[in-house]
Amino acid sequence: MEIITTLNLKGGVAKTTTALNIAQALRQLGYKTLLIDLDYQKSLTILLEANHKITALELLSSKEPGAIIKEAIKDDIITSHEDLLTLDSLDPLTLKKILDSKEIKNIYDYVIIDNHCIFNALTLNSLMASNKLLIPTTANKLGYIGVEDMTSLLSLIKKVYKKNIEAYLLFTDFNPKTDLNSQYKDILTELIKDTNIKLLDTYIRHSQPIEDSQALGVNLFEYSKRSNGAKDYLEATKELIKIKG
Ligand SMILES: Nc1ncnc2c1ncn2[C@@H]1O[C@H](COP(=O)(O)OP(=O)(O)OP(=O)(O)O)[C@@H](O)[C@H]1O
Ligand SMILES: [Mg+2]
Repeated sequence: MEIITTLNLKGGVAKTTTALNIAQALRQLGYKTLLIDLDYQKSLTILLEANHKITALELLSSKEPGAIIKEAIKDDIITSHEDLLTLDSLDPLTLKKILDSKEIKNIYDYVIIDNHCIFNALTLNSLMASNKLLIPTTANKLGYIGVEDMTSLLSLIKKVYKKNIEAYLLFTDFNPKTDLNSQYKDILTELIKDTNIKLLDTYIRHSQPIEDSQALGVNLFEYSKRSNGAKDYLEATKELIKIKG
């Protein structure tokens, strides 16, 4: 089972969009995929109109998560709760232990975890549970700052928590025709050159159907499978699957 975290310390760079569309592409390709929303703002939960009685809050704070896990993974998503931030002293391995249970390990090929743009007990849990980190970023000045912060965070995780996570940068909302995006793609590629972060060859182009499908609450691949957004997310997903092998 592959567990992938989407995280960037910068907001609004398509973390949730990436988690959702990679999961939907994986499902289309026949992989059983669980989504987990660890962002207290609940974007993924809201986009999927999921309303569970047992959320990540109950699961992560339970002394006996095994007893409620089945209810929590209803419809292949563990939903978020607005009070998730109250779990500020959560043991870093809580989520890892839950994902290691047979109710999840025996069912799913992939788990994709969406996060808030912050480093806290929840994002630490997400990183500690994952074997891959996907860093969505925009190719612009503020994107640069986000990725710079991520390189510092990964050094800290390695040093303090002895976890050397495989990290991949994914350019999102990209317009290859603009000089700005192309220049910043080069600048960011240079920035990660001497780090453990690798660049995915695929980038996700700016694509209106991404936003439209979210507004309508429908699956991008069903809404417009010929859109640049759907094509690019499918391609990025195939690239990620190949890395596995
Ligand atoms: N390739 C794209 N083309 C067009 N719009 C996009 C694309 N990627 C993301 N968006 C839009 O950009 C906005 C921000 O995306 P998203 O919510 O996924 O970012 P985020 O990093 O999860 O934000 P936050 O930090 O608030 O959690 C959304 O409205 C989304 O629909
Ligand atoms: Mg988000």
